[in-house]
Amino acid sequence: MSRFGRSLIDVAVMSKSDVKAFFEAVRARSQTADPPISGVLNRKKMRRASLLFLEPSTRTLSSFAIACSNLGIETLTLIGDQSSVSKGESLEDTLLTLEAMGVGLHIVRHKGIEELQQVSAKLQSIVICAGEGTSFHPTQALVDGYTLWSEGLDLSELRLLFVGDVRHSRVVRSNVALLSLFGAKFGFCGPQELLPSASDYPDVSRFQDLEEGVGWCNSIMALRVQLERHDELLFSREDYLKKYQLREEVLGNINKNAILLHPGPVNQGVEISREVFLSPRSRILKQVENGVSVRTQLIFEMCREWF
Ligand code: CP
Repeated sequence: MSRFGRSLIDVAVMSKSDVKAFFEAVRARSQTADPPISGVLNRKKMRRASLLFLEPSTRTLSSFAIACSNLGIETLTLIGDQSSVSKGESLEDTLLTLEAMGVGLHIVRHKGIEELQQVSAKLQSIVICAGEGTSFHPTQALVDGYTLWSEGLDLSELRLLFVGDVRHSRVVRSNVALLSLFGAKFGFCGPQELLPSASDYPDVSRFQDLEEGVGWCNSIMALRVQLERHDELLFSREDYLKKYQLREEVLGNINKNAILLHPGPVNQGVEISREVFLSPRSRILKQVENGVSVRTQLIFEMCREWF
């Protein structure tokens, strides 16, 4: 059994020592020139993975596909309407069908965490959650945590400010769960209707004023406004840009060691300016790069019996 358990749906299964050991393993893998497979692939075992993405994705889907390729694992990609889920087939029957074809690992982006948890318990194969609705994105949290840690930031001293649509962000929920293991502190900044209720996050500092939030934090994560999850917005685009867009002049007083993250997809010119996206403190493309190393190591550990 891997340190993540049989399947990975939620980061809450991990301890601080598990996460630290995992980050060390990712760094070792990413520093090796020709790392892909350590060990000989055991050809008697199932070594096929499905990439079942029932919500859109660019970086998670691609980085998992590259990670599988790095490890010599064959992939089957099923996206949204192109799978028989669109004809009414259940998630359980879909994954059982794929399992019957020798698929031993399912990487699933799906809305409905309880269903995913129940289905994963019924399968012989391994399930990794690749983003669930507004609640869970465990591998993005591992990517973000690894990015902060590998930059040499002390996670116990981290004060991470999330700016934007915090309420609908599964990335925030998973990052708070993961980084809290290290004692990190969190701040939320955005219009009231984009912030979650205080009872969901009682220990988080809340800022309506971006400059105040920037003065409090020592790293920052910008978030996209998830228009697809809103019926209507109660603020105008102009008002949002004026108050919450990350521009150089707003970041003037930020801690000198602060880095800027964004889980993507980025709407340049909305939540951040192009200048900030390209600035020296931006690690947005580094997060993307780290996504491959983190997911390669994760699959390697969770499917260890294949190697
Ligand atoms: N961060 C993230 O999940 O991006 P994608 O939706 O492009 O996979």
